[in-house]
Amino acid sequence: MRVLHRVFLPSILILTTTLAFGQQSPSDIDNKVDALLKQMTLEEKAGQLTQLANKTPESLQAIREGKVGSLLGVLGAENANEAQRAAVEHSRLKIPLILGFDVIHGYRTVFPVPIASTGSFDMPLLEQAERVAAKEATASGVKWVFAPMLDIARDPRWGRIVEGIGEDPYLGSMVAAAKVRGFQGKSMADSDSVVSCAKHYVAYGAAEGGRDYNTVDISEQLLREIYLPPFKGAVDAGIGTFMSSFQDLNGVPGVANHHTLTDILRDEWKFNGFVVSDWGAIHELLAHGFAADDADAAAKALKAGVDMDMVDNAFEHIPELVRSGKLPEIVVDEAVRRVLRVKFEAGLFDHPYADPNREKTDILTPENLQVARKLAQESMVLLQNKGDVLPLAKNKTVAVIGPLADDKASQLGPWAGNGQATDAVSPLEGIVAKIGKEHVLYAKGVDIPSYEKTLGAGVAAPAPPSATGVGGMANLNKPASVDDAVAAAKKADVVVLCLGELAGMTGEASSRASLDFPGDQLKLANAVLATKKPVILVVESGRPLDIRWATFHTQAILQAWFPGVQAGNAITDVLFGDVSPSGRLAISWPRTLGEIPIYYNHRATGRPGSPDRWHTGYLDLPNTPLFPFGYGLTYSKFSYSHLAVKTPTIAPDGTLQVTAEIENTGSREATEVVQVYVHDRVGPTSRPVRELKGFERVTLRPGERKAVDFSVKANDLGSYDPQVHWAVNPGTYDVWVAPDSASGVQGTFEVK
Ligand code: BGC
Repeated sequence: MRVLHRVFLPSILILTTTLAFGQQSPSDIDNKVDALLKQMTLEEKAGQLTQLANKTPESLQAIREGKVGSLLGVLGAENANEAQRAAVEHSRLKIPLILGFDVIHGYRTVFPVPIASTGSFDMPLLEQAERVAAKEATASGVKWVFAPMLDIARDPRWGRIVEGIGEDPYLGSMVAAAKVRGFQGKSMADSDSVVSCAKHYVAYGAAEGGRDYNTVDISEQLLREIYLPPFKGAVDAGIGTFMSSFQDLNGVPGVANHHTLTDILRDEWKFNGFVVSDWGAIHELLAHGFAADDADAAAKALKAGVDMDMVDNAFEHIPELVRSGKLPEIVVDEAVRRVLRVKFEAGLFDHPYADPNREKTDILTPENLQVARKLAQESMVLLQNKGDVLPLAKNKTVAVIGPLADDKASQLGPWAGNGQATDAVSPLEGIVAKIGKEHVLYAKGVDIPSYEKTLGAGVAAPAPPSATGVGGMANLNKPASVDDAVAAAKKADVVVLCLGELAGMTGEASSRASLDFPGDQLKLANAVLATKKPVILVVESGRPLDIRWATFHTQAILQAWFPGVQAGNAITDVLFGDVSPSGRLAISWPRTLGEIPIYYNHRATGRPGSPDRWHTGYLDLPNTPLFPFGYGLTYSKFSYSHLAVKTPTIAPDGTLQVTAEIENTGSREATEVVQVYVHDRVGPTSRPVRELKGFERVTLRPGERKAVDFSVKANDLGSYDPQVHWAVNPGTYDVWVAPDSASGVQGTFEVK
């Protein structure tokens, strides 16, 4: 898409000349929207605000009758085009559908789960991954993705922590912007761009007890400082749509929350796109005790600021609500305007159909898989590497043991788009491909029993185990046996032990009341550890698990999360040193369940943690996580020194400039994620002990040093007082340039 040259043009032309060819200016679009709106009956307006699931004979008929504005879950260009034809060729006003789908971490080329890829701290690569996802989704007829998922979470019991951006609002807003840029590209109207959708607005991740869909009661200050910033980041990046959340916030369900949907999103942030409800959430207002019936629920959702109803069919009550005077038509018109505007901006009126040829050329290509492999490499976190046992030499005999070693479906993680288990490379397959099957012994050891409750959470169907061959692979099709695992370990030089959770144990409706390794996995671990062979633990999970045992008894721990379609290749690239690990934790890693919630940006208390008894903390555990936010090892070592605050005093509209020297003091090239944190010493509320304000991935050769510079706008240091007035507080601030949230070199500066 070419952008017109805009130098030396009269200023009056600038608006139109910044638009890509084919794009329409906002005023053109508004005129077209108004013209269309004038022709619409109340029933057709309600139709535009209605989304149904799947292409069925009934939904096709409803589309032809003008009763549907969107379908979700229609995959494949031919299917999409058939549905679209019903709207564009057979409905009275010929308004195209917008076809949506959950493309949370890839469409068919499945990327690592978001909690993992957030930890890459690699914004250009995240953007590139979502470009790939957009290209694949549009090739399959999907023009709207229900992503990025932007829920901050501080409680790993909550199953959807896997889908989100971890615990930090600054990192979350950077990820939000990168993903929106990737999905929407230069223009949503481009044939390989999608409209993206920020969800779940808002504070869904603060569910009490980590139980999915559960109530949330938090202060306005916490809402604004922690939970809202990623969503604001998405708005600033030009996102097209939002999805409201299921849960109640301080008693008001997300789908009917005027304060969040209208006061903040529309009035403060000037968001111009449309809001869709989450699946079934309008009808759930009845169960919340917030609406008497579906008509009441529909009116409450619309008046609060929801524009489109996902699958409830509650908006079929719109005509009667308007005619009976219970719902002003102007509210409906405004919602229809927003939906139509996005459809115009997405180019759907000009190009409603998908090109079926692209399905053959654009999906699961070697280039796409390469992006998935790179993002997976960068998303894993090396938590421990005693005696530099990693990277492994390629000529050793490796026993690959554990229930996840050859579980292809779990590699993809939950909400795996249109991912297929058969596409995934298991860790076993990756290791065999890297060092040859003559060097590999395999035993599953134990099975992980699945929880019935987690079935259907978007996990692709299981594939048969990979047929890697005979010899050391003799256990491939045998039932899991701890004895086989011990025998394999005894014959090997080193054990790669693949433990964790099944993908279906994380994601929506998959909260857990425990952080343990389900089933008999620890029995297997103990038996393998008793062989005294060096053990590399590879953990695949959607949440931090209790790995205290492993820090004592294994040599190395690689947190691989669910790495996606290239899992096995990427894990193997890291284990054998073809790349140095560079992923970092996007959440603080608790020692055990009882520490939850634990997060790095907690407020200062009057009695900060200390070994002395009369301080905040526990009698039986230190007051720290097992691993802090931002933590992750590489195959080298980095020193931090020479911190210099170049602007010791800044004005509230000024910019902090700080630099520190980073040196690779190890013997391998590696990439360090250099982070900058601040702390406001005295504020109108007690401030977090640290807040992330910047980061940079820096690759250095052995012995190489680099001065890494950061600029932080004073404006980004502001906070809310208890009356929710925002201000940049004058006074002294601490600043750290650091490898994680618990260390680093420190200085101070003043805001005056
Ligand atoms: C989930 C959303 C998802 C929607 C549509 C809901 O159950 O909460 O994240 O986008 O389903 O699939």
